[in-house]
Amino acid sequence: MRVQEVRERYLQYLSSLNHHILPSASLIPQEDATTLFTGSGMQPLVPYLLGKDHQAGSRLTGSQKCFRANDIDEVGDLRHTTFFEMLGNWSLGDYFKEEQIRHCFHFLTDPKEGIGLDPQRLYVTVFSGDAMYDIPRDDESVSIWQEVFASVGIEAKVADIGSEEAGDKRGMRDGERIFFYDGKKNWWSRAGEPGEMPVGEVGGPDTEVFYDVGSEHADPNFPGKAHPNTESGQFFELCNSVFMQYVRTESGFAPLPKKNIDFGGGLERMAAATEQTPDIFMIDVFKNMIDQLVKQSDVSYQDRPQAFRIIADHVRSALFLIADGVQPSNTDRGYVLRRLIRSALYQLRHRLAVSDMHLSDLVHPLITTYRDQYPEVAACNAGMCIEEEERRFEATLAKGMKHLNTALSSGAVSGDDAFSLQSTYGFPVELTEQLAGEAGISVDREAYETAMKQHRDVSRSASQKKFKGGLADTDAISVRYHTATHLLHQALRDVLGDEVLQKGSNITPDRLRFDFSFERRLTDEEKQRVEAIVNEKIKDALPVTYQDMSADEAEKVGAIGVFSYGDTVRVYSVGDYSREYCGGPHVENTAELGVFRIKKEEAVSSGIRRIRAVLD
Ligand code: ALA
Repeated sequence: MRVQEVRERYLQYLSSLNHHILPSASLIPQEDATTLFTGSGMQPLVPYLLGKDHQAGSRLTGSQKCFRANDIDEVGDLRHTTFFEMLGNWSLGDYFKEEQIRHCFHFLTDPKEGIGLDPQRLYVTVFSGDAMYDIPRDDESVSIWQEVFASVGIEAKVADIGSEEAGDKRGMRDGERIFFYDGKKNWWSRAGEPGEMPVGEVGGPDTEVFYDVGSEHADPNFPGKAHPNTESGQFFELCNSVFMQYVRTESGFAPLPKKNIDFGGGLERMAAATEQTPDIFMIDVFKNMIDQLVKQSDVSYQDRPQAFRIIADHVRSALFLIADGVQPSNTDRGYVLRRLIRSALYQLRHRLAVSDMHLSDLVHPLITTYRDQYPEVAACNAGMCIEEEERRFEATLAKGMKHLNTALSSGAVSGDDAFSLQSTYGFPVELTEQLAGEAGISVDREAYETAMKQHRDVSRSASQKKFKGGLADTDAISVRYHTATHLLHQALRDVLGDEVLQKGSNITPDRLRFDFSFERRLTDEEKQRVEAIVNEKIKDALPVTYQDMSADEAEKVGAIGVFSYGDTVRVYSVGDYSREYCGGPHVENTAELGVFRIKKEEAVSSGIRRIRAVLD
């Protein structure tokens, strides 16, 4: 089945069980600073799991976009991806274990209302209890599962495994299908097992369903024995029903006001199970990309599966992150995005040796795949953004590889090497670590951090010098005024309308002067609004980037100030806020600008106004 079909069937089935379908929330958590990205379906629902009433009722469902940055290093194997969709259903104090387990099984195995998986291939795990926190073993779920399996003629025996390591030693025995595991495996909260949870966090025991792809797919070198929670490759987790009934307190756990269900199912993994493949990258949403890459390279998928998987995963993740407003940068979410694009470009150029295509060429077919469900992917200019980031890295990638290879052949990658690979050649340190690791060499991360810190201190004191009074480096200041001028231009258009167009501009180290078309004097309130917008954009720390494109394209992306046609023009973007035809230079990020103040507004001639403004 295609991903879309699995998603539709799931939502249809849950909606037939009176669940209200919620749209996916953004990958950037709103009003929730606990995580950088939305990493599970329940995240937007935390207040409701804690007891708040949801306006759509007590039965909810949806497919939630998720991104797990922690899994970046895992990508390359058969089943890890950084972005994925989590099918979810939630009971807010409505039904509990009985109904949840029954409809989960029905969806997985029913060929008409669900996805028709063979029940013989399903194995389940349940929570073995926690003596320290006095949380009992989940025998109730075991009985329900046994009845459910019995209804299709399967006698499900139970095994008490405990930990993953114990399972690797013991393995599973004939007829065993239900397995008890400890809090590391069968307890779910955003923070992990019970002892890891901060006070106020919700969580509970869970029951997970695993799919057996067949022992022929187990890694022959894997040392452990077969059981659902191994890393051997024979089983993969399909879904997880969390019995969300506890909240962490200072002294242990308290019951939540209601017993909730938080179900999460890996959409892509379910699609893979319907295709009987252990390789999630063989499902439709990735297959198109991989076919295109195979065609462009002289490499077959079997020869270098990791490279194909990393590229396919990272490009898809980049598209969804950009669609939710992330731009490549050196901090937080932007850095994760940068790392994804740069790692993927490395794989494309060096592992697959493809030189005649861009990562961005893979974006368009992906947009076609996803635009109906997620219109934001079509509306975000991701192709442009990825291409620009590629271009930034492309210029230094080959030289950086030379530097790295020299270090590798000397047998060590020092902190200074890692630092200059990053600062001069744009290599995210994690990429350097990965490549060094593949050669069996580790990077001196501590020395790298020290080099970074020294650099930061030096550049901080340099910029303090630069921006304080008379000693200033005039070029750097002018560059700041230049970027501020772009923000001012757009802000004026926002407040006064599109009749505002630049008619002249003059910058000195002390101020900017900006002339623009407009008929009348600005009110105080208009001036304040313009100032506030510019300062807000400065506070948002927007990245400033540019791209060369045809004048026609520039017009299409809404760049202002394009007067010529047919030529290539350079368009500077300040985040997603302003796009303007310009030769540069600009600062890299609006955070460098300081505080913007309008000093004076006056007429220059009929229909032309002039603003003088400063950056403090
Ligand atoms: N929130 C649960 C998970 O992410 C369903 O596995």
